[in-house]
Parts: sequence; structure tokens; C-alpha cells
Amino acid sequence: MLNQRIQTFYDSSSGIWEQVWGEHMHHGFYELGEGAYKDRKQAQIDLIEELLNWSEVANLEFKGEILDVGCGIGGSSLYLAQKFPASQVTGITLSPVQANRAKARAEEFGLQSRTKFQVADALSMPFESDRFDLIWSLESGEHMPDKSKFLAECLRVLKPNGKLIFATWCHRETASKPLNINEKQHLQRIYDVYCLPFVISLSEYEAIARDLGFQDIRTVDWSKEVAPFWDRVIESAFSLKNILGVIQAGLPTIVATTSLRLMSRGYSRGLVKFGVLTAQKSS
Ligand SMILES: C[S@@+](CC[C@H](N)C(=O)[O-])C[C@H]1O[C@@H](n2cnc3c(N)ncnc32)[C@H](O)[C@@H]1O
Repeated sequence: MLNQRIQTFYDSSSGIWEQVWGEHMHHGFYELGEGAYKDRKQAQIDLIEELLNWSEVANLEFKGEILDVGCGIGGSSLYLAQKFPASQVTGITLSPVQANRAKARAEEFGLQSRTKFQVADALSMPFESDRFDLIWSLESGEHMPDKSKFLAECLRVLKPNGKLIFATWCHRETASKPLNINEKQHLQRIYDVYCLPFVISLSEYEAIARDLGFQDIRTVDWSKEVAPFWDRVIESAFSLKNILGVIQAGLPTIVATTSLRLMSRGYSRGLVKFGVLTAQKSS
């Protein structure tokens, strides 16, 4: 079953990911030119900041409840809790190992009273309707086997006027040119390595959000801005210390590491896209 595979994937790989690459399990944001060589961790923080700015949620006075859907080990959740001192942040993940690590990290930061981490399925969230002021979902949508149900659940648990900030792996737009067999095989290899059921295009996400009744929908394609991330990860993956860690972490992570090039090649051929969407629940 997909959820079980995702759980095993993250249970077994999150420790080594944190050790080698840090607490953020998402792309970095790079400016073009020289900016493509900036520190990888800084680039990951910059992606969070760029998302907040672009979605117009950068106001430090932001108060309310944030839900981080697919929270990993709480990289974004704790960053947001620190940035917005009047917020309360809940993170959900399929991986008990991640949820426990996120809780431990919250304690290290003294944020345990304002953060909560739990194992829960985004397609059937254990929350009442109309609860959250902000939903943050950074690179978990690609794991969802039912993209409409996922966005419908986000809409349900958002408060009226609440905001969704969503960034996810997509494939290129297909309206004028359907995916060919070679592209489909390339995507299938990415799905197999990263436990993804399938990805869709950004305009398909936009159509789903519109049909569900989200308001003020905006999208942007940041593929060029995030693509350098994979080259920086590949460089660091091949240092001796990291290779030893990867071997200790077991097969799923090894497979993912040797397959990092699938993503960088996916971006360079225009097949893989990094889609960003923000939208609001009506009042
Ligand atoms: C690539 S990690 C991203 C982690 C985090 N957002 C970050 O940027 O550091 C994907 C996350 O999505 C979660 N996930 C995947 N499918 C999910 C589902 N159906 N319900 C809840 N979480 C899910 C995984 O457990 C994992 O924490």
C-alpha cells in the first residue's frame, strides 16, 4: 500500500537526510547566475521566505493556527513558529519517526508549547472543519494519490478567509503536446524512487482548486529557481562521510541518492516542474 511505502521510505531515510542535508526536506531557491552557487541550507530557507513573500504572508504580526501538511521533521513548522511568535503550528506526516524527531527538535528550540506533531493522513485529516488560518504544504502533494481529495481536505480544515500555500513537484504542461513514452518512463522512475503515485501539471492543480471553490488563486512556476538544488545535493552526496551514511541507512536511501540525477535531468529537459499555488477560502 502506498502510505505504508511512504512511511517506510521516510522512517528509514529521515535520519540520514538530516545528518547529511539538514532539517529541510525540500528544494532551495536560487537566483540565476552566481546565485546558483549559494549555500544549500540558505537556499532552503530562502525558498520558505520567497513563498511567504509571494503569498503575502510575510507580516510578522501573523497570528493564528498553521497546519504544515507533510511536515517532515518539522523544518518549516519550527521555522514558521519562530518567525510568527503569535502562531500555533501543527505538523502532520505519515512517518512516526519524523513526528517523533520533530517533537524532539521542538523541545530543543523551546517551542513545544506552540507546536504539535502527529501521524495523520492528509487525505483524511483528524481536524474539525474551519480550524486553520494558514495551510502550508511544501513538497508533499506529489505523494498524494488523490490530488482533488487532498485539496478538498485543505479547503475543509481552513477557516473562512484562511490561506493555502502549496508547492509541489509537477510535470510540464501537456495541453499542446502530450507526454511521450520516454517522458512517461522518466517520470515512472522518479515515482518508483520517491514513492510517488503520479504528478500532474500546475494548471491541473489550479483547475482542481478552482472547481473546489478556492478564491484568489495564483500560481507560479519556479522550476528555474529551484533546479540548481539537485546539483548542489549531488556534489555533497559524494563526499566520503555522506557515502558511508547512505550505506548505513539501507536500500531505499541508496536508491534515492543514486537517482538524484533523475530530478536534475528532469528539470533540464523541461519535464519536471516546480509548481507553486496560493489560494484563499471564501469568507
Ligand atoms: C519531501 S517530505 C517534505 C517534508 C517537509 N515539508 C519539508 O519541506 O521539510 C514529504 C512529506 O510528506 C509527507 N506525506 C506524504 N504523504 C502524506 C499523506 N498522505 N499525509 C500526510 N503526510 C504525507 C511525508 O510523510 C513527508 O513528511
